[in-house]
Amino acid sequence: MAHDNNPNTAGFEFTAGDFERVRKLIYARAGIKLNDSKQNMVYSRLTRRIRSLGLTSFGAYLDRLEREGGAEWQEFVNALTTNLTAFYREQHHFPMLAELVRQGGPSPAIWCSAASTGEEPYSIAMTVADNLPRGGKARIVATDIDTNVLATARRGVYPDEAVRPVPPDQLRRHFLRGNGPNGGLVRARPALAQMVDFRPLNLLDPNWDVKGPFDAIFCRNVLIYFDKPTQKRVLERMAEQLRPGGLLFIGHSENLTDRRDLYKLRGKTAYERVGADVRAAA
Ligand SMILES: C[S@@+](CC[C@H](N)C(=O)[O-])C[C@H]1O[C@@H](n2cnc3c(N)ncnc32)[C@H](O)[C@@H]1O
Repeated sequence: MAHDNNPNTAGFEFTAGDFERVRKLIYARAGIKLNDSKQNMVYSRLTRRIRSLGLTSFGAYLDRLEREGGAEWQEFVNALTTNLTAFYREQHHFPMLAELVRQGGPSPAIWCSAASTGEEPYSIAMTVADNLPRGGKARIVATDIDTNVLATARRGVYPDEAVRPVPPDQLRRHFLRGNGPNGGLVRARPALAQMVDFRPLNLLDPNWDVKGPFDAIFCRNVLIYFDKPTQKRVLERMAEQLRPGGLLFIGHSENLTDRRDLYKLRGKTAYERVGADVRAAA
């Protein structure tokens, strides 16, 4: 399949068999299901890797990946994730988080499990900071499988357009405005940045390097990339990480219909952990 007329990216043969191989490999590594419509995306994203390694075909790249693997596995995963996100995306979740923080104990624990470039965990951190009782200290862990987006998230630097959904007074409290060569950019103030612990975590891994129980888990707009059995397993394992009464937030096109024994609907795409132990319920 020759897709590309751009002289900088054209020229690699990409067969149906190559696409099938990519599909199997990313599914096994990250649980991500790529449907047929993703062929162009796969082509353009992996072409960059193939070129940077000085290889000349998809076949050679995939052979090398399977033979030598190593750090290239992370590059392969990073290339194939979709990281679209925004500050205060699905805004309706944040008043619920604010309420939970106001009503809860002095040290709420929150896990943001598909943190992408940081807009979601910093939205969480600002909400927590502005609602935490005096003397309280929160623990916010933000994870993602993609190490490139985590590096962007740790930097905490965003263009002005990205922070438009943040109310101006909150933006002033939590971000510094750049000037000179940094004009048009804002940076998370150290106090905000220090609230969030960013680390890599693959939701497919049998062991999750996070320490619950959490008062809230954000698992938004990542389940859509998984098939049903994977979604179910992730949601069951998240129940083990949530304290009873804790909240689970999922994305707008996701649903949680078949584990009503674990989660009770509390609002639009927001669920409360019910029951005692997931292992007993499963
Ligand atoms: C579309 S973004 C959603 C970001 C954010 N949660 C939001 O709702 O705006 C999906 C994120 O899920 C991450 N992701 C995909 N597969 C994953 C996996 N197996 N484990 C952890 N994160 C994964 C991607 O790297 C990407 O950053």
